[in-house]
Amino acid sequence: MNDLAGKHLLLGLSGGIACYKSAELTRLLIQAGATVQVVMTDAAQRFITPVTMQALSGRTVYTSQWDPRIASHMAHIDLARVADTFLIAPASADCIAKLAQGRADDLLTALCLARDCPLLIAPAMNRQMWRHPATQRNMAQLRADGVTVLGPASGPQACGETGEGRLLEPGALCNAVAAFFQPKVLQDKRVLLTAGPTFEPLDPIRGITNRSSGKMGFALARAAAEAGAQVQLIAGPVALPTPDGVSRIDVQTGQQMYEAVMACINACDIACDIFIAVAAVSDWRAEPVSAEKIKKNGERVAPRFAFTENPDILAAVTRLPKPPFCVGFAAECNDLETRGREKRLLKNVPLLVGNIGPDTFGKDENELTLFDASGVKHLPRADKLTLARTLVEEISKRL
Ligand code: CTP
Repeated sequence: MNDLAGKHLLLGLSGGIACYKSAELTRLLIQAGATVQVVMTDAAQRFITPVTMQALSGRTVYTSQWDPRIASHMAHIDLARVADTFLIAPASADCIAKLAQGRADDLLTALCLARDCPLLIAPAMNRQMWRHPATQRNMAQLRADGVTVLGPASGPQACGETGEGRLLEPGALCNAVAAFFQPKVLQDKRVLLTAGPTFEPLDPIRGITNRSSGKMGFALARAAAEAGAQVQLIAGPVALPTPDGVSRIDVQTGQQMYEAVMACINACDIACDIFIAVAAVSDWRAEPVSAEKIKKNGERVAPRFAFTENPDILAAVTRLPKPPFCVGFAAECNDLETRGREKRLLKNVPLLVGNIGPDTFGKDENELTLFDASGVKHLPRADKLTLARTLVEEISKRL
């Protein structure tokens, strides 16, 4: 995805083992369409060479404010003025302390003071250094100064200890930079989503499911989180990674999905402002479910099943005394315009999103038709994250 097309990033490296991740990060940022200007401290150059970073970024790496290659001899001004954002990854404990004090005794810290673009920092250090009251005091100061903090992650550290202080992985950092540039149209809204198929067992081995991959629901969860929302995702059986910043509950059956949604809505601390029902919930479940594996019998008589209707989750949410803003989905095979209009009224939702099932299930791209009280709007074929971001914007306009 060309998420960062047209963006010029300053990437600052301070000293730490995690500098090796900045090499991969540079590649990912460039693949996402950004241009990357690398600046390194003396300590960073102990861990990775400017040669590596220059080859990967395709630009001269600057390490000193006295660099004669800058015509004006004011690297800290010239490099800062053209940047859309400044990311320091890794940001060491020492670098963070200097920034908190407003010191400017090397090119990287001087750039931080001289910049007129936002500053993002990704801390990386030993867990004790991270937990130290001095570091936490400095972090509080940076947050108060409007700095955006990415991570740190928790886990095994290069020093052999385990805890909080790891640099976020390059992929997560790249996604976080892309998210930073998204408009915060759902800031502090609470969004609850269902996604994926359900699996309705017939016996302990087999069951009924459908071709939903969960990709559209997961893309919407990511887009809502990027837009500033607190996102709770209830996912059917899919093998997709949880988007950064999204809280996830996994379920199997339609009944479990219903119970998980109702539990989230009833838990007053995470009650929601927006409910988006993306899941392809099975309308029917076998009842009773065979306790034993159903065997072929000697005469090969096909087994018969009795089915019971699953609860309609979306209908249950719209019937609440104070329902959140509800968005339904409709996967149809044909007559999308007519069926979409009908289903929106039937489901009693202010916004219904229609798509053609065989054109979307399992695919990375889709096209959507939005139905609301004012009519129909078509979102042309695009990758699912692009569609999800547009849909989040459309939802925000209707709140
Ligand atoms: N939905 C739900 N719970 C169900 C069935 C559907 O929450 N038990 C939601 C879906 O997540 C979707 C919308 O209802 O947002 C429409 O689902 P769909 O299966 O297309 O419609 P149905 O009402 O099941 O109608 P039909 O299968 O006849 O098209």
